[in-house]
Amino acid sequence: MPMITVPLGERTYPIHIGSGLLDCLGAHVLEALGEISVAVVTDDNVAPLYLERAMKSLEAAGLRACSIVLPHGEQTKCLEQLANLYGFLCEHRITRKDAVIALGGGVIGDLTGLAAATFLRGVRFIQVPTTLLAQVDSSVGGKVAVDLPQGKNLVGAFYQPEFVLVDPDTLNTLTDEFWRDGLGEVVKYGCIGDAELFALLETCAPGGRAALMARIDEILLHCIQAKADVVAQDERDTGLRMTLNFGHTIAHAVETCQHYTGLRHGEAVALGMHVMTRLTEAKGMTEPGTADRLDALLSRLDMPMQLPQIPETELIAAMGMDKKAAGKTLRVIGIRRIGECYIHPTDTAFFTGMTEN
Ligand code: NAD
Ligand code: GLY
Repeated sequence: MPMITVPLGERTYPIHIGSGLLDCLGAHVLEALGEISVAVVTDDNVAPLYLERAMKSLEAAGLRACSIVLPHGEQTKCLEQLANLYGFLCEHRITRKDAVIALGGGVIGDLTGLAAATFLRGVRFIQVPTTLLAQVDSSVGGKVAVDLPQGKNLVGAFYQPEFVLVDPDTLNTLTDEFWRDGLGEVVKYGCIGDAELFALLETCAPGGRAALMARIDEILLHCIQAKADVVAQDERDTGLRMTLNFGHTIAHAVETCQHYTGLRHGEAVALGMHVMTRLTEAKGMTEPGTADRLDALLSRLDMPMQLPQIPETELIAAMGMDKKAAGKTLRVIGIRRIGECYIHPTDTAFFTGMTEN
């Protein structure tokens, strides 16, 4: 089975990738952490599909295992559910040598990770991501958080897992909506640093989801390796990790203006990459033809290419409020060509005219 390492000194950890790995969860926990107790956290969509298999595997390895099923959706990533998890971990007498396992998408991963980082000042944490977005992005790199009424991910930590176990078979049950959501981030990795991945996506895209799933192991390997490389060089998000935000400045502005009720995040990222690349190509900062190539792939993948009817001034104001805007300088990510990105320090005036492309 393929394995990728996230090299972080004493906190180095492996990411195991392979079809059917969910049934080996118990064996992996036992091998990595010994005879501990484990608490599995999941949501009410994932539980009927995969919880029984996960529990059977843990019990077959002789581990004491308990589980909790939370409601699905972003609203679960909140302080109330965090407190709920602390209560559950107390009730099941989870200690520092024990582990908490996130079985689900990015919502469950982020919430469970923050609980693991803070309960008893830190218990062990394992990620078993079951959405495309979680497998290629949120389960790797240690960002864990909950939302506040004032904004997303405002309370969080950097807390790396003991290991990540990625079973691509779980993606077969994802709705098309969440499949497409994850694809936005997959295309992003191709754009910012992996022209080979981009070409692979171009080859598969005409065959739709089935053709992409036929090559999913390769696609996951490319994306996870890219994320692991960036995290290894900039765990705390002070420089290079910013490149993962290609398309995100515009995406966050659109999501904010739509109050998170319009485009899904991955779709907004796809739109953001499209608008950004048209802009930078017009400014001579991107090789001619790059935007056409990106647009051709995005449209094959049914990604949105049209900015919603939001006044440009509102979008630009929303960018200025993005928590990643350091002072008045906005550090935007552009691509020179497919597979090569740069960080460009600028200000919101950079985006004037973006709704005209
Ligand atoms: P999610 O966890 O809400 O999952 C999406 C939906 O798919 C949910 O309804 C879930 O119940 C369902 N689901 C999960 N696995 C399934 C499966 N295998 N089959 C069928 N249904 C399944 O959302 P997400 O898109 O995975 O993650 C979004 C979250 O991730 C956001 O909160 C975002 O802030 C966070 N995020 C974190 C990072 C990070 O670095 N920590 C990076 C990107 C995004
Ligand atoms: N998803 C962006 C990051 O992990 O930094």
